[in-house]
Amino acid sequence: MNQYVIKGGTPLVGEVEIGGAKNAALGILAGALLANETVEIENVPDLRDTNVMLDALRSIGAYVEKVDRHTVKVNGSTISTTLLDIDSIKKIRGSYYFAGALLGKYKNAEVALPGGCNIGSRPVDQHIKGFRALGAKVDIEHGCIVADAEKLKGSHIYLDVVSVGATINVMLASVMAEGQTYIENAAKEPHVVDVANFLNSMGASIKGAGTDVIRIRGVEKLHGCHYSIIPDQIEAGTFMLAAAVTKGDVLVKNIIPKHLESITSKLLEIGCEVEESDDAIRVVSSKPFRTTQVKTLPYPGFPTDMQPQIVVALGLAEGTSIVTESIFENRFKYVDELTRLGANIKVEGNTAVIEGVSRYTGANLTAPDLRAGAALVVAGLAANGFTSIDDIHYVERGYEDFPEKLRSLGADIEIVTDDKELQEFKLKAMNR
Ligand code: EPZ
Repeated sequence: MNQYVIKGGTPLVGEVEIGGAKNAALGILAGALLANETVEIENVPDLRDTNVMLDALRSIGAYVEKVDRHTVKVNGSTISTTLLDIDSIKKIRGSYYFAGALLGKYKNAEVALPGGCNIGSRPVDQHIKGFRALGAKVDIEHGCIVADAEKLKGSHIYLDVVSVGATINVMLASVMAEGQTYIENAAKEPHVVDVANFLNSMGASIKGAGTDVIRIRGVEKLHGCHYSIIPDQIEAGTFMLAAAVTKGDVLVKNIIPKHLESITSKLLEIGCEVEESDDAIRVVSSKPFRTTQVKTLPYPGFPTDMQPQIVVALGLAEGTSIVTESIFENRFKYVDELTRLGANIKVEGNTAVIEGVSRYTGANLTAPDLRAGAALVVAGLAANGFTSIDDIHYVERGYEDFPEKLRSLGADIEIVTDDKELQEFKLKAMNR
């Protein structure tokens, strides 16, 4: 029954190191198969989703070596099949990048349709539109994306929605296509740029990543490289919010402050102090929170993956705040759980109206998905008394050593596996 159990109310104080970006790693690990030489990737977060990607690479015959906890070597020269249908990949979203990468390299791919967090309908029509524009025949058959082409030819692709997944997937499929590909209305997230930089270090020619239009000149083949993945913007943002709601003082290290501007600016608006240096941000929180309005938007807007965490903070502000979710249709499921802690939040369609309360009090909660699960942990850290959180496997998909990192900042949090351990934790915590 793995559960987090938290005794809340302790301000987080100290320093925390942020790991590699999960959502960049997923694109990069699939992209590693494009070369027939060894690609060495550093700063790969050790998470369930990245390990599933490595298993998937092994299952199609790629050479995969874990050099250390965060460094892997991949060599795609031994790949023997373009059929990828292992059970584990159906549970993660990033599996769809194998469709783009296998199609790009072998002109053929048969990859089980992706799962991932249940945060609303998550179509792949824009990915398919991109593959078709490059000249592939694409069908959904027996739960798989089946893509096939005699040759891939560069094309103009206008994405109807700004999609991180479709932008990365079309890059993967087109790096070795004949001629020029233009992705218009491309996603600009830091992880999109990181995948483009990685592919360029393998010899691809991708320009404009981080802007609305990405230009890809197809090259004949890609080669091996050494690459280090950027820090995880959302892990960093989650720790910034944890510092804020516990009225703490935390230095979040090994990050790119520019990637966190939308979060920094909201923390300043609600009354936190935020100090930026080259590769760190310090968040100090000592005053009652002011209210604000937040609307999730594609980068550089406020990230949907930080929406639950900011709601937790606004739930403690003095007055009414409004949060609008504009990316996914079903991303307020965790609000019922926050209500158990005493939050006063009304959801109407894609908008949450939050009446701040003076405090949360601990309760038994269930994580509905990855980021919401992390937000419930943040809320539990701020709540008076004990909070337990079930279904922590969601949180473990995106946060390496989450309880350990929080404990190093003074949090009282453990993973317990049964009722006896839960009672022991409570007894110890009461005597601390
Ligand atoms: C990525 O999902 C991330 N996942 C998500 O992170 C993140 O929330 C999301 O981008 C937005 O930033 C991975 O990178 C593995 P999208 P993705 O395609 O690529 C619509 C986390 O917690 N759309 O940018 O699936 C879609 O429905 C996860 O780490 C189409 O209509 O998101 C959504 O409304 C959760 N057709 C919008 O676009 C398509 O073909 C943006 O989705 C594709 C997307």
